[in-house]
Amino acid sequence: MCGIVGYIGTQQAAPLLLEGLARLEHRGYDSAGLAVLGSGLRVAKKAGRVRDLGADLPKRFTGKAGIGHTRWATHGAANDLNAHPHVDAKGDVAVVHNGIIDNAATVRQQLTDDGVDLASDTDSEVLAHLIARSSADTLEERVAEALAAIEGTYGIAVLHADFPDRIVVARNGSPLIIGVGDKEMHVASDLGALVRYTTTVAHLDDGEMATLTATGFTTYRHDLTRIAREAEHVDVDPAAYDAGEHDSFMRKEMLEQPSAAERVLRGRLDERFGTGHLGGLDMDARETRAIKRVKILGCGSAYYVGQMGASLVEELARIPADAEAASEFRYRNPVIEPDTLYVAVSQSGETIDTLLAVQEIRRKGGRVIGLVNVVGSAIARECDGGIYLHAGPEVAVASTKALTNMFLGFALLALQLGRVRDLSIADGKRLIAGLSRLPEQIQEILDGEEALAALATDLAGAESLFFVGRVRGFPVAREGAQKFKEISYRHAEAYQTSELKHGPLALISPEVPTIAIVPADELTDRNVAALHEIAARGGPLVVLTHADVDLGEVPCRRIDVPRSERELDPILLTIPLQLLAFHAAQVLGHDIDKPRNLAKSVTVE
Ligand code: F6R
Repeated sequence: MCGIVGYIGTQQAAPLLLEGLARLEHRGYDSAGLAVLGSGLRVAKKAGRVRDLGADLPKRFTGKAGIGHTRWATHGAANDLNAHPHVDAKGDVAVVHNGIIDNAATVRQQLTDDGVDLASDTDSEVLAHLIARSSADTLEERVAEALAAIEGTYGIAVLHADFPDRIVVARNGSPLIIGVGDKEMHVASDLGALVRYTTTVAHLDDGEMATLTATGFTTYRHDLTRIAREAEHVDVDPAAYDAGEHDSFMRKEMLEQPSAAERVLRGRLDERFGTGHLGGLDMDARETRAIKRVKILGCGSAYYVGQMGASLVEELARIPADAEAASEFRYRNPVIEPDTLYVAVSQSGETIDTLLAVQEIRRKGGRVIGLVNVVGSAIARECDGGIYLHAGPEVAVASTKALTNMFLGFALLALQLGRVRDLSIADGKRLIAGLSRLPEQIQEILDGEEALAALATDLAGAESLFFVGRVRGFPVAREGAQKFKEISYRHAEAYQTSELKHGPLALISPEVPTIAIVPADELTDRNVAALHEIAARGGPLVVLTHADVDLGEVPCRRIDVPRSERELDPILLTIPLQLLAFHAAQVLGHDIDKPRNLAKSVTVE
């Protein structure tokens, strides 16, 4: 959420910063801005997209040091004044900030009482004024002094006209990565903005600051004591951060699912013993057997996949398991049990609600592992081991390939937990065979895109839709509704099919289509009965099912999904729902990768 870039070196900063911002735009796209230091400090910022900022950049916006920001509004509307960078009254200091300053109201009041005119409604602006008011000798001391006056989370980058040879950056709860080039240094809140220029990087940790000059960087704590930090080579392919031939990242990422699924499974299937092999778990059989309960925590779609994961754990390992929205968890003063295995699930590894839940569990002595995509991210680092998802960079706001890999990560976990308990070797082998077939089956679904696109065109016309499923199918329905609403902006509501009669059936009408998840399982008959009830009330039906399911005379549009082992079916039922949402959004002409009001990685509470 929000993106920061910075550059100091031998080239003009503005074009490089604009390019970096374009790569970070999925992190926030309300407004964007740049500050460069040339013969003086110059700032350009405006509401709207990075391309609008680039088009309107003043002539001779020159300077070989600069910082930039792309914003997702928290405090203050998305307008020109609230865009970053923020400057002090004299225009000497420019600051870009990710995060939230919790005591901003108090600091704003103090500044106003002292006669400072604040130009924006943001929390971030106070930093520029606080730094400008400091009379300390060095920029580093001035920034440290300002940071001591604020409470909250931040990743910041600071330019000062009196210190033109440097950029000072600081981190507390919001990522910052330094990129080392040849006679130039970069900084960004996300690796994706750096990899085109360098793959030699150094991560800052919370409570750390750094000074970047054209020739190098130094790191220190907020009390300015020096710390040693070596830059390291990261093995990433810059092309992974490009949409390539695809018209959107979401499309690219959906199509990557078969190969991403192969990656998360590679080396982790023990066919001989019918179990999962998860090196990152660091639990022996005795510890694993001692687990009495599994509690999964995630937000949004990660929470829904967490529900699928809880079913897998209960079914395969027979350990009571449930999933909970991480955003609610710590506010109900949860009981943390020593024999519960807590599992935090997150693509970005940055979602603040999930991170805070992890910290709450650890504070109370609980054991928490992570299912995380981004290696070295905050959640990954907070956890006691875990499972990396290896989905590759995910840029589209609507998560697809990472969620598929989360499901597979849960399947591996459930297998491993199950095989030291009651899961038989035959069942273990059955599931391993099922997992091995999944990449190909996902490809088969993707190959059927055309039919789903045609169906999506009709669904896009509906103002409101239901997504329904039972037991294993319910989280599938929740994820389907989530994907549909977030990119098509249609009202989509998920229900347990069994609950329709208890209220929502009143809303069924010819204008409200229902997308029903009806796998071949022990509930097929009950599901088909519910389809009749919907049809009898004139509700149009789309049914995601398996070829061998007999739907009788129910009038519906049927989508047959390849069949897996019944425990693994949920993920195959999820893929067509991504395609439906994608094509509905496309028909409606929406910006698929940047849905309104949203941003990738929610780093504010
Ligand atoms: C929906 C979506 C979000 C995320 C949620 C958690 O498509 O992407 O609901 O799943 O914000 O994000 P992570 O997984 O990064 O913690």
